[in-house]
Amino acid sequence: MEKIEVNGMNFVPMFRHQEIVEIVKGVAAKLNEAYRDCEEKPLLLCTLNGALPFCGELMMHINFDPDIASIKVSTYEGTESTGKINKLIGPTTSVEGRNVIIVEDIVDTGISLRNLRRIMDEMGAKSAKVCTLLFKPGKFHAEEKKSGSMILPEFVGKEIPDAFILGYGLDYNESFRCLKDIYVLED
Ligand code: IMP
Ligand code: MG
Repeated sequence: MEKIEVNGMNFVPMFRHQEIVEIVKGVAAKLNEAYRDCEEKPLLLCTLNGALPFCGELMMHINFDPDIASIKVSTYEGTESTGKINKLIGPTTSVEGRNVIIVEDIVDTGISLRNLRRIMDEMGAKSAKVCTLLFKPGKFHAEEKKSGSMILPEFVGKEIPDAFILGYGLDYNESFRCLKDIYVLED
């Protein structure tokens, strides 16, 4: 598909599927380096629904054998972050004492990430690191400055400019998650 029109907005291709797979391979290599000597089995925690395709692809390219679990939080409505966690489901396995790898589709304001780290901490995780396919540093830096903390996602596939995207798990009001390419809102 060359273009997607929805509610008067135009989305154009940003990353084709093959390019996404290369990005995933790159971030998998970083995880392999970090976790290859880890004696305890890490826990790969997929944040539903957005990170589903990324997490699935990542599993094909890591060379250690983690346990797998899921968690669901949501902050977005339309194309804007609501700034607070609306829902929480899971985690589907206890994270107590575990080295958790939180798998995210994208880090934007960092609010979800900060909340997920706090939730992991409250639930007694031994460590919680964030592996994200995409990272928009723009809003993240502004938000983190306000909050007084600055913990970057530890494993990043690719940094992108501050624009709304969809496809490959990323949605616009729960639609377009199944597109195999990633599209960006034209300005
Ligand atoms: P944050 O809390 O603002 O960092 O963003 C949290 C979540 O919002 C991400 O995990 C995504 O699920 C969603 N999100 C952020 N940016 C986009 C986007 O450009 N398109 C679709 N979803 C997004
Ligand atoms: Mg997400």
